[in-house]
Parts: sequence; structure tokens; C-alpha cells
Amino acid sequence: MNLTLLQLFLLRYIYHVMTADERHERCYFLKKCTCRQNQVTLLFSVDCSGLKIREIPKLPNNIEELSFKENRIQVIPDQAFSDMTKLLKLDLSNNAINVFRNLSFIGLTNLRSLNLQNNKLDATMANLNIHGLKPLENLIHLNIKHNLFENFQPNLTLMVSLRSLEMDFISNDTGIISESFYSMKRLRELELSGLTGNCSVRSLTNESFKYIPQIENLNLSGCRIKHINKGTFQQLKNISVLDISNNTCLKFGVLENVTYDLQFSEIKVLKFNKIHKVFDMNTMLRTSQIKHLNNTSIQEIHGDSNRLQQIEIGAILFMPNTLEYVSARDNQFSHGPYLWDMLRLSLKTFNVSHMFTFHTEDEHPEKCSYDIVCKKEPITERKMKYGMEYNDQTFQATPLPIPPQLTSLNYSSCHLHYSILAYTLTKNNLRNVDLSNNLLTSWIGPIYNVKSLKYLDLSSNFCSNVSHHFFSQDFSSLEELYLQNNILGLVLQYDSKGEVLQNLHNLKTINLSQNKIQRLSKFFFKSQLKIERIDLSENTFESIGFYIGHLKSLKYLNLKNNRISYLSASAILQLDSIGILNKNFTIDLCQNDFLCTCETINFVQWLVSPTVGLIGKKNYTCQLSDLTLVSLENIDELYDTLSKDCMSKIPIIVALVASVSSVLIFICSGLIYRYRWKLRYVYYMIKIRSHKKMVPVKSDDDKSYMYGAFVSYADEDSTFAHKKLLTKLEKENGIILCLHKRNFLPGSDIATNITSAIHNSRRTIIIMSRNFLKSYWCMFEYNMARMESIYERSNENVLFLIFIDQITSKELPLHILELVQSQSYIEYPNDEYGDTVFWDKITQVLTS
Ligand SMILES: *[C@@H]1O[C@H](CO)[C@@H](O)[C@H](O)[C@H]1NC(C)=O
Ligand SMILES: *[C@@H]1O[C@H](CO)[C@@H](O)[C@H](O)[C@H]1NC(C)=O
Ligand SMILES: *[C@@H]1O[C@H](CO)[C@@H](O)[C@H](O)[C@H]1NC(C)=O
Ligand SMILES: *[C@@H]1O[C@H](CO)[C@@H](O)[C@H](O)[C@H]1NC(C)=O
Ligand SMILES: *[C@@H]1O[C@H](CO)[C@@H](O)[C@H](O)[C@H]1NC(C)=O
Ligand SMILES: *[C@@H]1O[C@H](CO)[C@@H](O)[C@H](O)[C@H]1NC(C)=O
Ligand SMILES: *[C@@H]1O[C@H](CO)[C@@H](O)[C@H](O)[C@H]1NC(C)=O
Ligand SMILES: *[C@@H]1O[C@H](CO)[C@@H](O)[C@H](O)[C@H]1NC(C)=O
Ligand SMILES: *[C@@H]1O[C@H](CO)[C@@H](O)[C@H](O)[C@H]1NC(C)=O
Ligand SMILES: *[C@@H]1O[C@H](CO)[C@@H](O)[C@H](O)[C@H]1NC(C)=O
Ligand SMILES: *[C@@H]1O[C@H](CO)[C@@H](O)[C@H](O)[C@H]1NC(C)=O
Ligand SMILES: *[C@@H]1O[C@H](CO)[C@@H](O)[C@H](O)[C@H]1NC(C)=O
Repeated sequence: MNLTLLQLFLLRYIYHVMTADERHERCYFLKKCTCRQNQVTLLFSVDCSGLKIREIPKLPNNIEELSFKENRIQVIPDQAFSDMTKLLKLDLSNNAINVFRNLSFIGLTNLRSLNLQNNKLDATMANLNIHGLKPLENLIHLNIKHNLFENFQPNLTLMVSLRSLEMDFISNDTGIISESFYSMKRLRELELSGLTGNCSVRSLTNESFKYIPQIENLNLSGCRIKHINKGTFQQLKNISVLDISNNTCLKFGVLENVTYDLQFSEIKVLKFNKIHKVFDMNTMLRTSQIKHLNNTSIQEIHGDSNRLQQIEIGAILFMPNTLEYVSARDNQFSHGPYLWDMLRLSLKTFNVSHMFTFHTEDEHPEKCSYDIVCKKEPITERKMKYGMEYNDQTFQATPLPIPPQLTSLNYSSCHLHYSILAYTLTKNNLRNVDLSNNLLTSWIGPIYNVKSLKYLDLSSNFCSNVSHHFFSQDFSSLEELYLQNNILGLVLQYDSKGEVLQNLHNLKTINLSQNKIQRLSKFFFKSQLKIERIDLSENTFESIGFYIGHLKSLKYLNLKNNRISYLSASAILQLDSIGILNKNFTIDLCQNDFLCTCETINFVQWLVSPTVGLIGKKNYTCQLSDLTLVSLENIDELYDTLSKDCMSKIPIIVALVASVSSVLIFICSGLIYRYRWKLRYVYYMIKIRSHKKMVPVKSDDDKSYMYGAFVSYADEDSTFAHKKLLTKLEKENGIILCLHKRNFLPGSDIATNITSAIHNSRRTIIIMSRNFLKSYWCMFEYNMARMESIYERSNENVLFLIFIDQITSKELPLHILELVQSQSYIEYPNDEYGDTVFWDKITQVLTS
């Protein structure tokens, strides 16, 4: 198709107008609200929703749509809208309006639609001020739902134009649309649905709608209706749309009454979705229920969520050929001869999607006078009847009727597609229950009153969730439990306290294979003291982390086809502890990925002479450290070579460790030797300082030394020190000397005394002689003084050497020679003239 330029222009113009129409702006007269101007009428649509407004503001009269929804308006004052003669649509929903006055709506003569949903218009007020609605003479659509009209219908006679009304409909008995509706000749649509408002009617009879025979569209969905008698819709000859959906107590039987009334009406659309409960019995559509539709020209039928399974043969043939659209979603149709009848239908659309959809029970199920599956009775009555012990405090379990003599129930492979919720079985003698191969994907429970149950099969159910209380205390007789081929690994590994199986004290066999279990907690089997067989094959275990040592009756543990590479020492210990008591205990470890390396050698050793029976031991394979796979057929040989290999590595490891550590020791001792004097010095200084509160002496202030000099001499040279030195220096020159014979504190240890003396003396005089060099303590004093000069007095010359022997440089140790060459020393001349000079020099050095 070619567009001319003009057409293109027109399209752009229309597009422009439409987009301009969509533009929302702040209103010039009320900044809080947004405005949208209609490009044709030039009037405004004003949106003031959700602004916490309490009072209706004054507004200009060029408005055609006005919304005050979701605000806090309580009162509509007189003349609130008096100027707004052009207003067509007013939305006051979700406020708190409880009063409108005689003149509240005055001026709204053109109003077409008024929404007062979800306010607080109680019966008396609305009744009193019905005159207030009088100005709305052109109103076509009114919504007054959710206003708590208790069993009350307003007299809306004055609204003569009203065509469509939405309101609540409440009656604890027969619901009757009141007589005042009779004068609303134009009313065509009545929306009473409980899904959007408050609708609760027990039953409907031929009286219910007798005052509105002209109605065309009636919506009774979600109205908690229990009965619809024949004749209810009989007068509604013009009805075209009828909706009775979501009335779960009605059941399919009601259709007969409904279609009977509709047979000569104008009905086009009939909706009866979900007139069943989720867990009701499946239903069959019978000929009698729909045959009356033959005489109508119905076009659409909706019957979703009805557990519809079969249709009576021939029933479909009654469908008129005007029928074009059928929706039967979420049902459970099965194959049957009725399918051939379909050939005769003139359908255009047939929706049977969502068949076998997964359902959970309705949140607030309706109470029906009879439910096809389970009739709820008062608990006391139930107790008497079925002899159940029923703990009301724990869970509101749904009762499940079980024939009292029944011992064996096979419900396998039935495509049951539910969560198993809380159930209490009626008094029963059930021993075997097979629910395998269904779609019971979640086991919530608890299940009560299964005290005789010995055998339970829940395998192959795609179950990924089992609750901690599913197996209630009532499962105490259970001996065999088959849970294989589910996905329980997802939950069981988090059962850290072993609560799932805690009530199964008498369990003898459990099968948990094919469940994708990676690990189980230590306490998983804590209560199964009588268990004999555990099957955990075809999972993904990497080790045995759960305790089994206490399972003294265990005969068979199947861990085939897992990912176990070796068993830890504690696992082996546990297996041994069973094996010792129970010679018949066997374990199957086929098809695992064993590792045979030096790290797992204890496990390999255990495989050589296991304390328990190993099934298929000859078939085991093992991966060596060089990744080759070997059979364990000759496990003895393998162990021998492996242990040799690992042994031959031991000397190498030992040698390596020894050499590394000796190198380390060597380095350390070297370091220690190198700094031996410093270390000693530091040690003694710390010792001194911790003993006495000594004021640390700084090198730059030289006043506060206790002694002028510490004299270090060998005992053999004491004459020189005590006689000559003492006289010349202390007595004649007043330099106080520290001599170990005289000044050392008795009792203190000698090294501390020396360090302390050196530290407290300004200088240290070394009386150097061959004896000095030989004496251990003298060398100690010499070195300590050196350290003092280096570390405490920042290299100040503390040492003063006096040579009283003629010592050749060859005789001197290296470190003394070094000092002699770098620092001052003096030789004792031992002649009269030289002596005078000698003592002068010393005095000078010591007092400078
Ligand atoms: C409202 O109008 C009616 C009739 O016009 C009158 O009887 C009634 O008193 C009025 N109510 C108020 C509150 O003015
Ligand atoms: C419906 O009405 C009943 C009684 O009139 C009231 O108790 C209930 O709260 C109402 N429900 C709703 C949703 O308004
Ligand atoms: C039903 O409503 C009537 C009054 O409208 C009341 O007397 C009666 O007790 C109610 N019945 C029930 C079961 O609520
Ligand atoms: C409804 O109101 C009109 C006008 O006020 C009155 O004539 C009529 O009797 C009322 N109907 C009923 C059933 O109350
Ligand atoms: C409703 O049915 C009853 C009998 O079931 C009858 O007496 C009554 O007249 C009927 N009412 C109308 C409006 O048809
Ligand atoms: C049904 O509709 C027709 C045509 O619109 C009309 O003549 C007739 O009066 C209506 N019937 C009732 C009961 O309102
Ligand atoms: C009846 O009302 C409910 C709730 O508003 C709505 O979902 C349903 O579509 C209505 N039925 C018809 C036939 O319009
Ligand atoms: C159908 O109508 C009959 C008679 O009017 C009534 O007894 C019966 O309860 C109705 N069925 C249902 C399911 O409401
Ligand atoms: C009403 O029925 C439909 C099925 O047609 C269902 O999907 C919906 O959840 C029901 N609503 C309520 C409130 O029960
Ligand atoms: C349906 O009704 C028509 C007359 O309206 C009749 O001719 C026909 O046989 C009926 N169909 C069946 C299957 O009874
Ligand atoms: C071991 O098995 C043998 C035969 O299978 C049986 O006779 C014996 O009682 C069993 N021993 C134990 C301790 O279960
Ligand atoms: C060992 O493997 C062979 C072949 O793979 C098989 O036939 C035999 O059953 C296995 N033995 C055991 C005890 O699993």
C-alpha cells in the first residue's frame, strides 16, 4: 500500500495530537495535581490521587475528569463541586468519606461516572442523604463497593439514568435485590462480585432478581453462594452475560438449575470458573447440566479450574452452533469417547491449557455444607467417631478418610501432583502404603495416625523438600522406607540435627539412592538403632561424614556409585566398631573414585584386610598418584609397592628436613655468635633496669656518674690496681674508682654487678696484661664496656687501656688489637720520671 503525502501528513498530525494528549503536566490551578488537556474539548483531566488530601479544594469548571482516589477525605461539603458542570467522571475511591450532604453533589448535572468504592458510607448515612444523589440525574455508572453496607441496599431511585452499578451484596440467607431497584428502568449491568468488593449470599431463588428483569450483565463471582435454586434467572430474559465463578461451594450440580433458567434467554457469555475446591473430587459434565443451552445462542463458555475430567457421551451435542469460544483451562480431562462428539462442535477457540497444574489449598477455603472429599466436623465429634488422638495445638491437619479394615494401599503411578500437607488419617489399620511414581514434590506434613504403618514407598516423586516434622511421632512402627529417585539431597544435607528421621525408631531399611545427596550430617541416623540396611548408592558422597558407629544391627551399607576417594580414619574406625560386633556387616563401595597415594595409604591398608565385608572388592579400581587407574584385584601387591614407595620417600624427606633445619640453626647460631655481646649486654641492662629504678644516663650530660672510673683488672694484677691506681687517682686526684673487690654488692650476681658498674662509671680502665687476656671475667668486662660505649654512649670513648705487660701485637686478640690501633692507650713505664707523666696523663683523660 502506497501512502500519499497527504496521508502521511495526516498520520503525523494525528500522532502529534495523540502524544500531546498523553502529556501530563502540573495543573496551573493546583500545583499538587497533574493535568492532561484534551486537545479536542480543551478540557482537563486532573489527577490528585495519593496526596494525603483531607479537603476538596476549589477547582475551575474546565475539568472533565477528576480523581481524588487514595486520599484522606472524610466529608464532602455542600457545593463542593457546584461549578463543575462539565465534569464527566469523578473518582473518590479509597478515601474515608462517611458523610455526604443534600448539596454535596449539586452542580454535577453532567456527571456520567462516579466512583465511591472503599469509603465508609455506612447504611444509615447513605440512607439519610439519598437526596444528596439527586443532582446526579445523568449518572450512568456508579460504584459504591466496599462500603460495609451490612445487608443493606441503598434506594437509588432518584438516579434515573443509572445503567451500570457496582455494589456490595450481603445476606446471611436468600439474597434479594431490593424493591427500590424496580424503578431503575435503565439499569443493565449489575456487578456484585466478591472479588472486588464484599459479596456474601447464602442462596439465590426466584425472588432474588425479580425487581430487575431488564438486567443484561450480572456478575455474581466470589459471592460465597451455596445454592442457586431453579427459577433464579428465569425472569431475566434479556441476560447476556452471567458470571457465577469463584463460588467453590456450588459444585457442578448447580449448572442444571442455571442452564434451565437460561434456556430461552439472550445469554451469550456464561462463566462458571472454579465452582469447585482445589481438592474436591474430579467431575464429570453431564448431559442434564448443559442440555438446556441447546435453545440459546450462547457464544462463550468459561469453565476453568473445575477438576473436570470426563464429559458424558452426547452431552456436547446439545451445544448450539453459535458457540465459538470455550475455555476449560486447568482441568484434568482424560481420554474418552466424548472426544468424538467434539467433531460436531462449531468452535473457533478451545482453551484447555494448564491441565494438571500444581495447586495448593485455597488460603481461606469456603465452608460448604457438604464437600465431596472431606467433611469437616467439630473435633470432639471426630474424636468420638474415629477414635483419634488429636492434638489441636500442633497442626490443623485435614482429616483423610481411610476404611478401618484397609491394610494395604497402592496409589502409585497416579500422576498425583500435590504438596503433602498436614493430614490426620481416620482410624485405620494401614500397614503398607505405596505412593511411588507420582508428583508429590513436597512433603510438608505432619501426617498423623499412621501407627500401624510398616512399609512406606515415596520413591520417584521428584520431591525436593521434606520437612523436619513430616514423619510425626505416629510413624514409630515404620520399618521400611523407600525414598529413592527423588531430589532430597537439596534438603537433607541441611538437616544438621537429624530431625527428619528422628521419630523412626524402628526403621530397618531405608533407601535414599539416586537423591543427589552430597553429604549427610553426623546425626542424620541418630535414632535408627535398629536399622539393618542403608542404601545411599548413586549419590554424590565424597566421604562418610555421618555417624554410623552406633548402628550395631547394620548389615548392609550401600555406597555404590558415589564419589568417595578414600575413607578417613574416623570413618574407618566407625566401620570397624560395627564390624567387630557384627560379622555379617557388609559395605558396597563399587564404582567410586578411590585414590591410592601416600596420603591415603591408611585407607589402602584397610582395604587389604578390612574388618567388614566388602562387596565386589575385586571390581574396585583405584587411581595412583601418576593418574593411572589400576584394579584392586591384587590389592596386597599394590599396598606393598605403595608402602615401599612411600617408605623410600621417608629418608629423603627426613634428610631434606634435617638439612634445612641445620642450615637454619647454623644461620641462627652465626647470628647469635656475631651479636653475642650485644645480646648479653642488652640482657643485663634489662635486668638492671628492672631491678633498680635507674635513671638512664645520657652521654651528653656527664655529671651524674656514680664513679669516675671502673677498673677492670685480672686478680693477678690486683696489687697494681689496689695500691698504685687507688693512691694516685682516688686519694691524690679525687677520682672515685670502682673496684670489684671493694665496690661490688655482695649477693648480686657478678655479671649484673659488672654491667651495672660499667654503666654507672664515666670511664672503664682496662689493666691490660697477659693475665687479663686469660681471664674470662676480664674479657667479659672488656666486651661489656665496649658495648656500653657503642650502644649507650653513642661511640664515645669509654675504654681506657693501660698496658702493664709488654704484649706484642701477635699476642693480642683481633678485636683488642683493633681497638688499640684506633683508640688511645697508655703503657705503664714503671720508671720514676715516666711514672709522673703517666699519672698526669691518666688524670687528665679521666677528668677531661
Ligand atoms: C435533605 O433534603 C430532604 C428533602 O429535600 C430533607 O427532608 C432533609 O431534611 C434534608 N437534609 C438536610 C440535612 O438538610
Ligand atoms: C464484608 O462485610 C462484613 C459484614 O458486613 C464485614 O464483617 C467484612 O469485614 C466485610 N469484608 C470486607 C472485605 O469489606
Ligand atoms: C441473619 O440476619 C438476621 C437479620 O438480618 C439475623 O436476625 C440472624 O441472626 C442472622 N443469622 C445468622 C446465622 O447470622
Ligand atoms: C425510594 O426512594 C423514593 C424517593 O425517595 C421513594 O419514593 C421510594 O418509596 C423509596 N423506595 C423504597 C423501597 O424505599
Ligand atoms: C417462586 O417460586 C415459588 C415456589 O417455589 C412460587 O410460589 C413463587 O410464586 C415464585 N415467585 C416468583 C416471583 O416467580
Ligand atoms: C428485553 O429487550 C427488549 C429489546 O431490547 C425489550 O423490548 C424488552 O422489554 C426487554 N425485556 C425486559 C424484561 O426488559
Ligand atoms: C466479574 O467481576 C470480576 C471482578 O471484578 C471480574 O474479574 C470478572 O471478569 C467479571 N465477570 C465478567 C463476566 O465481566
Ligand atoms: C437446584 O434447584 C433445586 C430446586 O429449586 C434445589 O432444591 C437445589 O438445591 C438446587 N441445586 C443447587 C445445587 O443449588
Ligand atoms: C477465581 O477463579 C479463578 C479461576 O477461574 C482463579 O484463578 C482465581 O484465583 C479465583 N479467585 C479467587 C479469589 O479465588
Ligand atoms: C436442540 O433444539 C432444537 C430445537 O431448538 C432441536 O431441533 C434439536 O434436536 C435439539 N438438539 C438436541 C441434540 O436435542
Ligand atoms: C549372619 O548371617 C548368618 C547367615 O546368613 C546367620 O545365620 C547369622 O545369624 C548372622 N549373624 C548375625 C550376627 O546376624
Ligand atoms: C564386577 O564387574 C563385572 C563386570 O563389570 C560384573 O559382571 C560383576 O557383577 C561385578 N561384581 C560385583 C560383585 O559387583
